[in-house]
Amino acid sequence: DAEIVLSPPSKTYGHLNAETVTDVHHWTDRLFSFKTTRDPSLRFANGQFAMMGLEVGGKPLLRAYSIASANYEDHIEFLSIKVEDGPLTSRLAHVRPGDIVLVGRKPTGTLLLDNLRPGRTLYMLATGTGLAPFMSLIRDPDVYERFEHVILTHTVRQVDELAYGDYIRHELPEHEFLGEFLRGKLRYYPTVTREEFETKGRITDLIESGKLFTDLGLPALDPEHDRVMICGSTAMLTDTENLLVKRGFDEGNANRPGAYVVEKAFAER
Ligand code: A2P
Repeated sequence: DAEIVLSPPSKTYGHLNAETVTDVHHWTDRLFSFKTTRDPSLRFANGQFAMMGLEVGGKPLLRAYSIASANYEDHIEFLSIKVEDGPLTSRLAHVRPGDIVLVGRKPTGTLLLDNLRPGRTLYMLATGTGLAPFMSLIRDPDVYERFEHVILTHTVRQVDELAYGDYIRHELPEHEFLGEFLRGKLRYYPTVTREEFETKGRITDLIESGKLFTDLGLPALDPEHDRVMICGSTAMLTDTENLLVKRGFDEGNANRPGAYVVEKAFAER
């Protein structure tokens, strides 16, 4: 397994940049992240996704991946699950520094600050790899200029799947440039559903019961003042959207900003 070596692409592709992997981190045996070089021509807004993958059988094999790094950084970063028989992720999980991945030149997506009306509190609700776009957004100073409170929730099955947890808690507040923006504004609220943890349960249940707001010392969701970004599995998106719509939240998009925006988290099944 450890001996699988990824070969470089056989040719160049007009719509794809060939980027070199510079750093790989395995959070669990099913969850990993990696950094690559960034073609200076790549432009994206924080929260967007790009097509990304490998050349397999002489053709690009790509999936939609949220970019986890911020758009002012000189690298790009991705967070991925590894699916045993997943055509892409079973291979991608073997990337090592020096390997080449293909990255689409036209990132897109709806998890954008501009798709939300101004508000007081911004909730970012993530499950699993749905954390990725928020790793980009929480490193965007604009987020802290626009909102008084920024709440990032991450729900996973097991504690060790709380990727970037230590970074968010300990490193980010000390960040020489971002620290002053986010200190006292960014609150991280991790929850775990299948193991003991300080905060247990699905975010939907924690919203319904009101425990999320009691824990944070914030008022219950209010479409007038609160804005919500959601990224998770299809089931999580449906349940969370229902809960928001019931409370009077309207969905935003590029033509008409709203009270919430949604994006499906990366999945390969
Ligand atoms: P649970 O353990 O109760 O299924 P997954 O790995 O399946 O994408 O799940 C990631 C996290 O999202 C898990 O903690 C899971 O909780 C939670 N989750 C799954 N489906 C939903 C849903 N419909 N609403 C809220 N949370 C969900």
